[in-house]
Amino acid sequence: MKIKKKIPLIDQHDKYGFWGGKFGGSFIPETLKKPVEDLEELFNKLRYQKKFLNERDFYFKNWVGSPTPLIKLGNLTKHLGGAQIWAKVVSEANGGAHKIYNATIHCLIAKKSKKKYIIGDTGAGYAGKMLSMAAKKFGLKCKIFMGAKDIVRQQPNVKAIKKNGAEVIPVYSGSQTLVDAVSECMRFWVANCDTTAMCVGSTVGPAIFVRICGWSTSQISRELKVQLIEEFGSIPKKLKLYNCVGGGSSSFGFWNEFMDYDKKQVEFIGVEAGGPKKSKKHAAPLTYGSKIGILHGAAQYVNQNSDGQIDETESISAGLDYPGVSPLHCFLKNTKRARYTAASDEDALEAYKLVTKYENLNPSLEPSHAFAEAIKTAPKLSKDTIIIVNSCGDAKKDRDIIKKRLGKII
Ligand SMILES: Cc1ncc(COP(=O)(O)O)c(C=O)c1O
Repeated sequence: MKIKKKIPLIDQHDKYGFWGGKFGGSFIPETLKKPVEDLEELFNKLRYQKKFLNERDFYFKNWVGSPTPLIKLGNLTKHLGGAQIWAKVVSEANGGAHKIYNATIHCLIAKKSKKKYIIGDTGAGYAGKMLSMAAKKFGLKCKIFMGAKDIVRQQPNVKAIKKNGAEVIPVYSGSQTLVDAVSECMRFWVANCDTTAMCVGSTVGPAIFVRICGWSTSQISRELKVQLIEEFGSIPKKLKLYNCVGGGSSSFGFWNEFMDYDKKQVEFIGVEAGGPKKSKKHAAPLTYGSKIGILHGAAQYVNQNSDGQIDETESISAGLDYPGVSPLHCFLKNTKRARYTAASDEDALEAYKLVTKYENLNPSLEPSHAFAEAIKTAPKLSKDTIIIVNSCGDAKKDRDIIKKRLGKII
């Protein structure tokens, strides 16, 4: 299993949509065959159209607010010693997280296909908030499916979704988290695909959704490459890119433009949710060696029991609380291009505490997992090593959890 150079990773699948022959695919009911084929055809056309690319660039710049800042965390670097720590502050994008890129592109595509309605899933609430924002911007009616447990723990984003005029559909099945929200959203789409477009909130789902999402979030690494050249004159010789991994859209987008670099020069470190230290439950299928299974229309490493039933996950961060992971990351793991590890709830909270003590940065609990690993490794690395953490979400949504766990009011 090898990554090909000079071909975008989103295109390195076989004719059935599998990366490395076994991850991804498109396991869909017969009713979705036509809408999925139509979406594929439209996306494959639009992504090479100058007019569409200009439109994308216009909205990313003038509405999303790209490029997001690249900042040096000088105080944290000094405190830890060792490698230089930087942050790509993607949470400065309109709405407060990277989910805006995928949501914008899905709404633009929905408009081209003359759809009036758009639906989407959400865990942390950011994918839902961003889709509701983009739907409002482009004049689409929007429904967001969200697990009942997540509705309680991510209230600020739920309020934002409603304020944008979208309907929040609570999902009471299963663990009442992201996994159930995605299932329910896909079920709704099966019955309404004639009038309604669907946005999957991460690089998961049938292959076309993985590709659209990866293509959209790659804006992050496109910007980062330019910023690094501006700052250092060239891509640093020892660069390490840390990102949390739930479904895998922020990490894929943060790494994509560096795929062809040797991993000795540009290393990718994906940090999954290890869950509470005392619990056996986690959301880290890549780290803890889960088997391949089918979830949400794609083959991937997924937490499951010996009968192949999907395991319940547990994580303090709703955005990482997902039993599966993008086929793109399964491929990156098997080719050894990326390294994956997990941080516990407690590690993420400690990292949040340290980052906010030393810096004017307020990373949500998802990127706090990536900070935990960066903080652990930075002191062991040389001063000419550049660590960049994708600070892909703002912690305002985590206000209640942080107050409860740390007594800290943000
Ligand atoms: C701020 C933030 N970061 C990370 C994630 C994880 O998703 P992904 O791995 O697709 O970036 C989420 C998901 O909701 C999120 O809201």
